[in-house]
Amino acid sequence: MNAMLKEPILRVADVSVSYSGVQALQTVSLRVMPGQIVALVGGNGNGKSTTLRAVAGLNEVDAGEIHFQGQPVHGLPAHKRVPLGLSLVPEGRRLFPRLTVLRNLELGAYTRDDRQEVSDGIEQMLALFPILKERATQLAGTMSGGEQQMLAIARGLMARPKLLMLDEPSWGIAPKFVSKVLDVIQRVNETGVSVLLVEQNLHKALSIAHHGYVIQTGRIVLEGSGDDLLHNEDVKKAYLGL
Ligand SMILES: Nc1ncnc2c1ncn2[C@@H]1O[C@H](COP(=O)(O)OP(=O)(O)OP(=O)(O)O)[C@@H](O)[C@H]1O
Ligand SMILES: [Mg+2]
Repeated sequence: MNAMLKEPILRVADVSVSYSGVQALQTVSLRVMPGQIVALVGGNGNGKSTTLRAVAGLNEVDAGEIHFQGQPVHGLPAHKRVPLGLSLVPEGRRLFPRLTVLRNLELGAYTRDDRQEVSDGIEQMLALFPILKERATQLAGTMSGGEQQMLAIARGLMARPKLLMLDEPSWGIAPKFVSKVLDVIQRVNETGVSVLLVEQNLHKALSIAHHGYVIQTGRIVLEGSGDDLLHNEDVKKAYLGL
C-alpha cells in the first residue's frame, strides 16, 4: 500500500477565526482527499465563506493549522497559496464587469508568466465552456448570472489549481442553470481537480459530493458521505424545514 495515496490534499485542523474579536469559526476541522468533491453546507452566516477565505489566506487564523499537499500554508499570504494550487472562486463571483470574457480569463492567470501557457489555458477554457467561446469579446457584466458563473469558474481554473474552492456557485442563477453549473463542476473534477464546494443549496451540492460537512454557528456539526447526509434526518430538519 502506498501511504501517499491516503494523504489529504487539504487538511484543516482546529481552525478558529474571528472578526474584531467576534468568533466566526471555532475549531473547524475538515479534509479533502485527492480527486474528491467535498461540500460544506449550512445556512446564512454560519461560517462557510470564512472557512474558504481562511484556506485561501484571505482571513487570518487565530488558532489551528491548514496543510495543503502536506505543507503548512496557514502562515502564507494569499498570493503565495495560489501558485501552490489553491484557487478560490469567491462569493458573488467578483468578475471585472467592464472587461471582456477573454480579459477576465487572462487576469485569472496573473500568477503565471509563460504567455504560451496562458494562451493554451484560454483555449482549454473555451473548449470546456462553449458558451464562453461564443461570448469571448462580450463584456462580462452584460452576461447572464449563469454565464458569469461559468466565467468565474473558468477564471479560477486559469490558475491551474489542484484544489478549486467554490463559494455558492448557484447564487443568483436561474434554477434551470444550476444543474449546468454543477455538471461543469463535476466535469472539472473528472479532469483531476479536487473541489471544495460551499453551498446553501445543500440538496444539489450533496448530490454531487463524495463527502460533506455541515457547519452551524462556526462549528462542524455533522459529516458523512454526500448520500448519507442527504438522507440524514438531522440535516433535513435543520436545513430543509422538514
Ligand atoms: N468582514 C467581516 N467582518 C465582521 N464580521 C464578519 C465579516 N465577514 C463575516 N462576518 C461574520 O462572520 C460570520 C460568518 O460569516 P460567513 O460569511 O462566513 O457566513 P456564510 O456561511 O458564508 O454565510 P452566507 O450563506 O450568508 O454567505 C457571520 O456572523 C458574519 O456576520
Ligand atoms: Mg458566504
